[in-house]
Amino acid sequence: MVAKKRGNQAKKASPGKKPAKTRKKSASKVPSRPVKQIRKVREMKKYLKEVRSRRRKVVLVPTMGYLHEGHLSLVREARRLGSVVVVSLFVNPVQFGPNEDLDRYPRDIRRDLRKLRREGVDVVFCPDAAEMYPERYQTYVDVTEVTRDYCGASRPSHFRGVATVVTKLFTIIQPDVAIFGEKDFQQLVVIRRMAQDLALDVLVVGMPTVREEDGLAMSSRNAYLSPAQRQQATTIYRGLRKAKQLLDSGERDAAELAAIAVDLLREEHDLVIDYVAVCDPETLERIPEVEKEAVLLVAVKVGDTRLIDNIRLEVKGARGRR
Ligand code: PAJ
Repeated sequence: MVAKKRGNQAKKASPGKKPAKTRKKSASKVPSRPVKQIRKVREMKKYLKEVRSRRRKVVLVPTMGYLHEGHLSLVREARRLGSVVVVSLFVNPVQFGPNEDLDRYPRDIRRDLRKLRREGVDVVFCPDAAEMYPERYQTYVDVTEVTRDYCGASRPSHFRGVATVVTKLFTIIQPDVAIFGEKDFQQLVVIRRMAQDLALDVLVVGMPTVREEDGLAMSSRNAYLSPAQRQQATTIYRGLRKAKQLLDSGERDAAELAAIAVDLLREEHDLVIDYVAVCDPETLERIPEVEKEAVLLVAVKVGDTRLIDNIRLEVKGARGRR
């Protein structure tokens, strides 16, 4: 009901009404009209058909909600890049394993909508699970090589769920640009691979990780941490920074770079390492030595909470790829 009412209101203020420049200026200050909420695939397609008939550029930011500054940095980039910004809020059941946190994943759609309204987002796509995966649903997208290791090894079928939902969002919304965070580095690589392999007409943009003041990467899952765990979690970024400093001081050996992070992480009693790996930022293959650029990926469990982070390792003066 609410969605319908909002839909009608927003029809008047359809994205074609104001030139992008005017909206951009006012967006940060004036919490303007309510965000248009769409829950149905069919309605989303109809809305976008109209948008596209006005030749508007559509930028999509896929999320699972419980938004923080990391998500909002993607939304701001979306506003900068396009004239119609679509944010999806959907806790995708298919990317959670049987014993994972689907049921307790934090949700607060009203707070999310307030935040998105302040950012001047045009439309929020918030389907329920039955809308995305109706009865007899049986089609999935598998990206093979780049999903085998790291989070793919610890969370079998996770990336299948991610690739499937993102493909479906791309199909429904057909964005010109889609924005993802480097915080989920493997996910970004998977989506880039998938977009290229399937010849999807979407530009995939990656954005830097937004951190808390003490360096912890922002994540909806940080809400699970007790104060003591929250404190221990700061070691993740300190470990990454230490590895980067070691690289900057001349060390190139991947095992040494990983080891310095591992040693620091092991000092925290409640922290269990899943993986620490130095790999190629495009293929995600593990590399023995950093020649030009690499990425150091980390996943740990703090109590029941799984946290991931990463840092770019670049050899100064050796920029650019082979
Ligand atoms: P979610 O965890 O909600 O993240 C949505 C987007 O925000 C992802 O692209 C993620 O990389 C980015 N993000 C999260 N924390 C960030 C931070 N601290 N700084 C910058 N960007 C950050 O990732 C997912 O949802 C889902 O897997 C999804 C792609 C929506 C598919 O269901």
